[in-house]
This record gives sequence, C-alpha cells and structure tokens, in this order.
Amino acid sequence: MNPEAWTAVDEYFAERLLERDRGFAALLAANAAAGLPEIDVSPLQGKLLHLLARAMGARRVLEIGTLGGYSTLWLARAVGEGGLVISLEYQLRHAEVARANLARAGVADRVDVRAGAALDLLPKVEARREGPFDLVFIDADKSNQDVYLAWALRLSRPGTVIIGDNVVRDGEVLDADSVNPAVQGIRRFVDLLASEPRLSATAIQTAGAKGWDGFAFAVVD
Ligand SMILES: C[S@@+](CC[C@H](N)C(=O)[O-])C[C@H]1O[C@@H](n2cnc3c(N)ncnc32)[C@H](O)[C@@H]1O
Repeated sequence: MNPEAWTAVDEYFAERLLERDRGFAALLAANAAAGLPEIDVSPLQGKLLHLLARAMGARRVLEIGTLGGYSTLWLARAVGEGGLVISLEYQLRHAEVARANLARAGVADRVDVRAGAALDLLPKVEARREGPFDLVFIDADKSNQDVYLAWALRLSRPGTVIIGDNVVRDGEVLDADSVNPAVQGIRRFVDLLASEPRLSATAIQTAGAKGWDGFAFAVVD
C-alpha cells in the first residue's frame, strides 16, 4: 500500500484531465470554511459521475447524501438547463451550505436540496410522482445502503443507472462478522444487487486521494 503514490497519481490525472472550473474549487473552499467533513467524492470521481450522466443523457437525477453539494454540482452540470437533480440530506446545516454553494455555482434552477432523513423524504418523492429517475447516486449513511437501493429501484425505469459509493471501505467489506453497521449495510446492498433479477451490477475498487474504496454500478433491466 502506498497512499502517497495514490494521491500523487490522482493529482497527475486531475491536473491533466479536469477543467479549471473555479466553481468546484469555490464550493470545496466554502465547505471547509463551514467546517463540513471532507467526505465528498474526489474530483476525478465527480467528473466520472458527470460523464456517466452526460453519456446517458440523464435529465432527472436523484442523489441520496448531499453534504455540501460537491457531487451534486457535477451532476447538475451534466443534466443541463431544464434538467433536475433532487438531493436528499439529513443534516440541515449541510443542506443549507449546499443550497448556498449551488446557487453561487449558478445551478439553483436545476437542483432541489431537501433536508431530512432520506427514509422520510423518499416516500414523498414517490407520492409526488417525481420519478422515474435516469440516474440515482447513493452516498449517505451506509447502514441503510440496501434500503436506499430498494427505494432507487421503486423510483426507476428500465435503463436507470444506480451507483452506490464506498462499497470497499479499506477491504472491510470482506468481513461478514463486522460489527460496523456501515459494513453490514454495504454487504446487504451487495446481496440485493446480486439477488434482484431486475438489476445487472458490477463493483470497482478504487485507490486514490480518498484512500482504498470503490463503487458499485448497476443498470435496471
Ligand atoms: C459522504 S457524504 C455525501 C457526499 C456527497 N455526495 C459528495 O460527494 O459531495 C454523506 C452525507 O449523507 C448525509 N446523511 C447521513 N445520513 C443520512 C440520512 N439518513 N438521510 C439523508 N442523508 C444522510 C450526511 O449528513 C452526509 O452529508
């Protein structure tokens, strides 16, 4: 393991491949100033979300877990004018910081940050018939990752892409006896990906500035 090298390689690719978009840097600076934890996706991962959303022509995106809106901004830039990103965030303070960040970045017209527990907000999304979504990004409390996947399916159509973050957790995902609720939530999530006949899924390990982790990627049949 060489985390310094992982970070250096991330920096190399970011320097070569990421546009110098001051919006993203300003957003991360505002998060830091507000004291938010640095648990957003990395810049390269954010751009991957953006490119996936663009490649599939996503116009309606659901995000579970906003923090300060960093991944939200990447997704909002992908859906374009007239598109919509609904993002659910438990911490009122995080939601407020995210709303201000996203307004400053010029995407308030296409982003709806909703404060509350995702398990309270998701039934309302369904009741208001705001789905189906083209893309769902699950990145909140991992102990509920499997429950969010079940909700993502309810709010999907054939072709919807569902991405779940942080599925490797320094390899802890292998520990079937883990007492960590996040690990058990991820393991149930993987079980559901495997057993649900409407889903085709894969998982990719990543090593980089955010350590050793990974994401799962699924398509609804
Ligand atoms: C890893 S961060 C999200 C990072 C963000 N997606 C990004 O990459 O910029 C997880 C967020 O989920 C929120 N969260 C935790 N439990 C939640 C819940 N039950 N419902 C909604 N959000 C929750 C946390 O407050 C935190 O802001």
